[in-house]
Amino acid sequence: MQKPFWIILTVLAVYLPFASAQAPESSAIPPAHLTSEQDHQRMMDLLHITSLRRGADGDPKSPYAANYDESKANSNAPLPDPLLLNDGKKVTTAKIWWSKRRPEIIEYFDREIYGRVPTNVPKVNWEVVSTKREMSGDVPVITKKLAGHLDNSAYPLVSVNIDLTLTTPANASGPVPVVMQFSLSPEVMAALAKRFPQMFAPTPGPSWQQQVLDKGWGYAIYIPTSAQADNGEGLTDGVIGLVNKGQPRKLDDWGALRAWAWGASRALDYFETDKAVDAKHVAVAGHSRYGKAALVAMAYDQRFAIAYISSSGEAGAKLYRRNFGEQIGNIAGTGEYHWMAGNFLKYDGPLTEKDLPVDAHELIALCAPRPVFIGAGATNGDGWVDAKGMFLAAAGSSRVYTLLGAKELTSQFPPIETALIDGDIAFRQHSGGHTPAPNFPTFLTFAARYLKNPSLAPTATR
Ligand code: GCU
Repeated sequence: MQKPFWIILTVLAVYLPFASAQAPESSAIPPAHLTSEQDHQRMMDLLHITSLRRGADGDPKSPYAANYDESKANSNAPLPDPLLLNDGKKVTTAKIWWSKRRPEIIEYFDREIYGRVPTNVPKVNWEVVSTKREMSGDVPVITKKLAGHLDNSAYPLVSVNIDLTLTTPANASGPVPVVMQFSLSPEVMAALAKRFPQMFAPTPGPSWQQQVLDKGWGYAIYIPTSAQADNGEGLTDGVIGLVNKGQPRKLDDWGALRAWAWGASRALDYFETDKAVDAKHVAVAGHSRYGKAALVAMAYDQRFAIAYISSSGEAGAKLYRRNFGEQIGNIAGTGEYHWMAGNFLKYDGPLTEKDLPVDAHELIALCAPRPVFIGAGATNGDGWVDAKGMFLAAAGSSRVYTLLGAKELTSQFPPIETALIDGDIAFRQHSGGHTPAPNFPTFLTFAARYLKNPSLAPTATR
């Protein structure tokens, strides 16, 4: 029997506002709280993997100690050919590179290594939190604190606000190039400085910020962990958790490196709207895990003009196929697997690095023809990141650079402290340890060729 119409209306009138007011709270399933170990195990289960190979050990006395012997480094392992299409045909023109081969390589990195950025990542609304005229050293500057708020209306239980600071010379007569550095949060920095004071002891000479201002450029500090936490527990939170509505990842979902790189691209979106910035000349810079993330940002987002990739090592610019320093087993462990897509774990057992459809030279090739500076410290002090493995990857990307009309890197590994900065792929190994500082002036000399004379930048040819 049909209810009278008004009864239905009354019920709806009373219930609907209540239901919609309650909807986000009552219908949103709270984020899953998995430890890194539980989430890591979950990924292994999804892959039907029961054990992984262990990584290299930092302790030289361990039976699993990292290899630092060149003769055992597997340097001659054949690399996948960046200029061979999946159907076996050769890439002979720039057009084939852009239309066919580059997308094939991106698909491999997306699916097997870094994971895919979902198509429905919410929009970021940038807020200028404060604008301050101040001094940076002896240069008058304008510093803007910025917050990139992600629209979380689809899942209010997770909120994400990207932390970015932009400093430009106050006396600039127009938009300036900007060097954006991926940085640890001030809290992490303070905690580290307390535990390892020597790491944060002032280095001689001007800071990187002063060096950048000396060129008449600006600098920006981007805190990647404001977009995505640096641990496996955090994968149901941050931008990855927001898009997944608090649920764990699928095997080809993005990991932290891709999320950090995504955040850098959102920072660039903001720069495109700020008249103080010449957004066509923004450099990305990062060290160690942030060197990896900066390289991923540069590879995927063609708007970045140039990159300084410091000591990025495994999952950065170092060839996976080299047995020197860090290995896949380290990155696939519970402390670092969250950087990667779940699918990456399978290359740590039963598959090996030789089964990877791509290697780091192809990540660098994705940056072509834009200029990239790859740096590292001495083997004694920074051997873990394998400077030579990164050099070989950089040299391995040369054929793509030349195909696109840019200048390659020599295939001759240079002596330590010898800058190779004449081409569009640059390399230098400094004699210090795991620090970006000693290579910074050389990076700026290299960068000045492109950022000071925008018309010379190879990007201008596209
Ligand atoms: C570890 C890790 C490296 C990483 C480094 C860092 O050493 O194994 O891959 O680059 O941490 O980011 O500090």
